[in-house]
Amino acid sequence: MAKKVQTPEDDAAKTKGRLHLLIRYAKDFLSFNKWNTVGLLVIVLLNGLTQGVGFLMLIPLFNLLRTEIVQGGGADHVAGAWLKAVFHWLNIPMTFPWILLVFFFLMTATAILRNRQMVITHMVQRAYVRRLQSRIFKAIINAQWSFVANRRASDLTHILTSDLPVVATGTFFFLQLISNCGFVACYIFWAANISITLTGITLVTAGTLFFLFRSYFPRAFKTGMSMREAKSRIFSVLMEHISGVKIAKSYGVETAEQANFDEIVSRLSMESVRITRQNAEMKLWFQILSYLILCLMLFYAVNVLWIPLVEVGVIILIFSRLLPSLSALQANAQRLAGMLPSFSATETFYSNALAHQEDLVSGPSDDRMELNQGISLENISFRYSADEKGFAVRNLDLRIPALKTTAVCGFSGIGKSTLTDLIAGILLPDAGTIRVDGVTLGNQNLSAWRKSVGYVTQEAFLFHDTIRNNIGWGNPDATDEEIMEVLDQVAAGRFIRELPKGLDTIVKDRGSRFSGGERQRIVLARTLLRNPKLLILDEATTSLDKKNETAVFQSLFRLRGKITLLFITHDPATIRYADQVIDLKAHLD
Ligand SMILES: Nc1ncnc2c1ncn2[C@@H]1O[C@H](COP(=O)(O)OP(=O)(O)OP(=O)(O)O)[C@@H](O)[C@H]1O
Ligand SMILES: [Mg+2]
Repeated sequence: MAKKVQTPEDDAAKTKGRLHLLIRYAKDFLSFNKWNTVGLLVIVLLNGLTQGVGFLMLIPLFNLLRTEIVQGGGADHVAGAWLKAVFHWLNIPMTFPWILLVFFFLMTATAILRNRQMVITHMVQRAYVRRLQSRIFKAIINAQWSFVANRRASDLTHILTSDLPVVATGTFFFLQLISNCGFVACYIFWAANISITLTGITLVTAGTLFFLFRSYFPRAFKTGMSMREAKSRIFSVLMEHISGVKIAKSYGVETAEQANFDEIVSRLSMESVRITRQNAEMKLWFQILSYLILCLMLFYAVNVLWIPLVEVGVIILIFSRLLPSLSALQANAQRLAGMLPSFSATETFYSNALAHQEDLVSGPSDDRMELNQGISLENISFRYSADEKGFAVRNLDLRIPALKTTAVCGFSGIGKSTLTDLIAGILLPDAGTIRVDGVTLGNQNLSAWRKSVGYVTQEAFLFHDTIRNNIGWGNPDATDEEIMEVLDQVAAGRFIRELPKGLDTIVKDRGSRFSGGERQRIVLARTLLRNPKLLILDEATTSLDKKNETAVFQSLFRLRGKITLLFITHDPATIRYADQVIDLKAHLD
């Protein structure tokens, strides 16, 4: 098979893409942290300044010592000259103890500034990540249901709990990079103060090193990408396969599951080692070459430029700071490149979620819609995504009278749950109108309508929490008496009272503390507690035995005339509770 040949244009386009990504990241970060980042840079520059002055003070200090010892010469270096002027201005004698004292104060200031820099870096980093987490979570919970339904749960969790921490670490490197730039600028300034030639040589060599090692950036990006992929697979294996452990056991596929998991984790650890190796390799070369430059420079300084020994000492000091700073600059840039794939994923996800936001107008929190006449569906059509050929619901006309009981039936996949999602206001139709008491449902009243609807979906969804908290979800002020009352209505009061811990019993989100039927009744009680105008049961009693199902329906029967009930069923026995039966098959084109 012909392999696609990579052209230089492809490479250039990719580099441009990565660069744009980096710029978008920096813009996003700075849009929120502009002043904090400026503050951080000021601290870094002040730090570089005080440190530099401190180092330069060593020259007059040693010169002074030498002068005192050999009784000759003086502080003749340019740095010494202006330090002398500063001392004179401060009216401090330029004696050994005074110079030491000033040196101590400068170095203490440096340490304090470094401490502030560390704390501020962390604060800025956390604030940015907190904002990312919060805005992505907000985008998810305010997105249209169809957007969330079309995504794997593990993908959503992966973005929030894996990609974002990677972006957080990358942000730390980004801030370090900014600090590195500040320090490098300061060190270059001080180094140039001593010898422009040597500083020039260092910069040219560092620039050459950056150029020679430029391929490390795309490599770091690629490794970051495959790390992301491996992590995403681990997430899906953990979330999907662990919840399917029971089925895996019954199929006897534990060994295959184990092999699958081992393969992914070994890939992840391989990529992780690869990143460390790349970083270490880069650092090694930088260090070897740095020492080489330092030695050549010293040779040049002492044998060609004839720079005095004291200054050579300070040169060593400054350059031994400058070179690691340059190396750190390179390493941080490389790590930043490794973070970009995760940033790109969060960015794409966020903009997708934003494009699918619900545009609800929310009124007062107790704003509910009345249902006294009925719900009418006029020529409703809906499909889950634009690229899907089939409509889940097509050209449907229906009327659900208020305060009556309506049953919906039809074969599996015909669109019953989609229909109830539309009636509950969870989905909006692509075409047609839904009216409640003659009022068209739309963004302006959906939020009020949802408060009037009690919806028991096909999945009995419960939190890993107490029965009380599960039922009181949405009604946190409900008393135990109110909770027991709704539990009695759904024929669950007795088994809950028999539990040793009663309402404090923990309902496990998975596992088997409660049977399927018990879970269904807890969910039903939660819905009834909301005191809905319309109660929708999407096969909500399928796990109940006949006796309990009858008990539930009979107690719902008692609400007749007070509540509109819509239930989906495959069971002809329950249809007798309905005033009206809608067979969706009859509505098919
Ligand atoms: N999130 C989704 N994305 C894409 N298609 C979907 C989605 N949910 C349902 N569908 C499709 O829409 C159609 C109607 O599904 P729906 O769940 O409404 O059927 P149903 O009548 O409730 O079936 P059942 O009796 O099995 O619960 C089916 O063809 C289904 O494959
Ligand atoms: Mg269904």
